[in-house]
Amino acid sequence: MSTVIKGGTIVTADLTYKADVKIDGGKIVEIGPNLSGDDVLDAAGCYVMPGGIDPHVHLEMPFMGTYSADDFESGTRAGLAGGTTMVVDFCLPDPGQSLLDALKRWDNKSTRANCDYSFHMSVTWWGEQVFDEMKAIVEEKGINTFKHFMAYKGALMVNDDEMFASFQRCAALGALPLVHAENGDVVAAMQTKLMDEGNNGPEGHAYSRPPSVEGEATNRAIIIADMAGSPLYVVHTSCEQAHEAIRRARQNGMRVYGEPLIQHLTLDESEYFNKDWDHSARRVMSPPFRNKQHQDSLWAGLASGSLQVVATDHCAFTTDQKRTGAGDFRKIPNGTGGLEDRMPMLWTNGVNTGRLTMNEFVAVTSTNIAKILNVYPKKGAILVGADADIVVWDPKRAKTISAKSQQSSIDYNVFEGKEVVGLPRYTLTRGVVAIEESTVKTREGHGQFVKRDPFTAVNKALSTWKEITAPRKVERSGIPASGV
Ligand code: URP
Ligand code: ZN
Ligand code: ZN
Ligand code: ZN
Repeated sequence: MSTVIKGGTIVTADLTYKADVKIDGGKIVEIGPNLSGDDVLDAAGCYVMPGGIDPHVHLEMPFMGTYSADDFESGTRAGLAGGTTMVVDFCLPDPGQSLLDALKRWDNKSTRANCDYSFHMSVTWWGEQVFDEMKAIVEEKGINTFKHFMAYKGALMVNDDEMFASFQRCAALGALPLVHAENGDVVAAMQTKLMDEGNNGPEGHAYSRPPSVEGEATNRAIIIADMAGSPLYVVHTSCEQAHEAIRRARQNGMRVYGEPLIQHLTLDESEYFNKDWDHSARRVMSPPFRNKQHQDSLWAGLASGSLQVVATDHCAFTTDQKRTGAGDFRKIPNGTGGLEDRMPMLWTNGVNTGRLTMNEFVAVTSTNIAKILNVYPKKGAILVGADADIVVWDPKRAKTISAKSQQSSIDYNVFEGKEVVGLPRYTLTRGVVAIEESTVKTREGHGQFVKRDPFTAVNKALSTWKEITAPRKVERSGIPASGV
């Protein structure tokens, strides 16, 4: 059974043109005018784009004494409803746990996924076993990215020496290290001080994590990566200080990537000063939302190319879960949702305002990250041979975001009441229609794990340069007698 998407305009990261797209066996088999097939999807008035890839989600994540509420079923359903056709989750080994054992748990959880997915492996502790298992993770398990938390002291946080060792290992294996960049020691001290002063509400969360602690950690991670000879991907870049460090590194020739979230682009710090405790607590995440100047910096980075990817860090907790932190903001589970809203919110606030072109929209929601993760052009492309992960985007379809009609299983939405213009008419996952306007036709378990090969090009280039510029002993004809 073949399907043809007919009458639309194809929009990719570098081209905009009118053509039909024919799909068979889950892949794109032909692109051109006047195609025919068994099924026809009408794309008149629509843009036919690569499905979104969200490289930063936490589904059923064990965190802060609970589990994030959206699992691989509801999370990927939410993603598809908003035009996202692939997600990448973070496997989190417990302290001392084998990476391979942790991966089994993630393999079990993900069998319910409605769309394709992959994993990042997290380095949550360091030792010979981690060093050894990283090789199997890359070479046998198809995972080429390793996450490091510089925050969450006493839980997920790793120190500089551990990061340096891990980044060197990544460089050798052809893997890409990722960092959550906040100075966890300073945050922990600020949290204690705020609590001692009676500042225990959700606004204390924002006060304890100012932009400078993110900027410092981002810069530190960049220097460590440079010393290790590895590229670096900075997740949830939320402020000018972090963006500035990334921009400077890139101008100096370093392979550093930055990922703003749709939440940081469109919601600001005033959310933490709402008189309603629930309202503010629901928006507690790390890093916290920032002011308008930081938002402008992130938008400029996307337009100019110093930031490459828009993600969600989807990590949804119910109001009840958030209330664990009543009286102590340090206990509010950190995280917000966004999987269903990332693409419509970015289109509305980016393309419709002229901050981004349609091609840039495709680049930052799909193609750039497909290349960074080494899954391009299987994903992130409208090309013959690519997976038919496609969104048929209707730029005129509009809705008001509301928890009442969302796919996510939580009881609120941080974008509640926002008007979006630009929504999927169809979302296809490997050729299967999962969303047809408001009708959800997702198939639990349809999603497959996407294996990602080690990087050759970037890591090879960096290691070649490292080797050429490595310290070398100067050979001299004689050594003078030592002075008295
Ligand atoms: O607050 C957040 N971002 N929660 C999810 C875990 C993380 O730091 O990415
Ligand atoms: Zn994080
Ligand atoms: Zn995260
Ligand atoms: Zn299937």
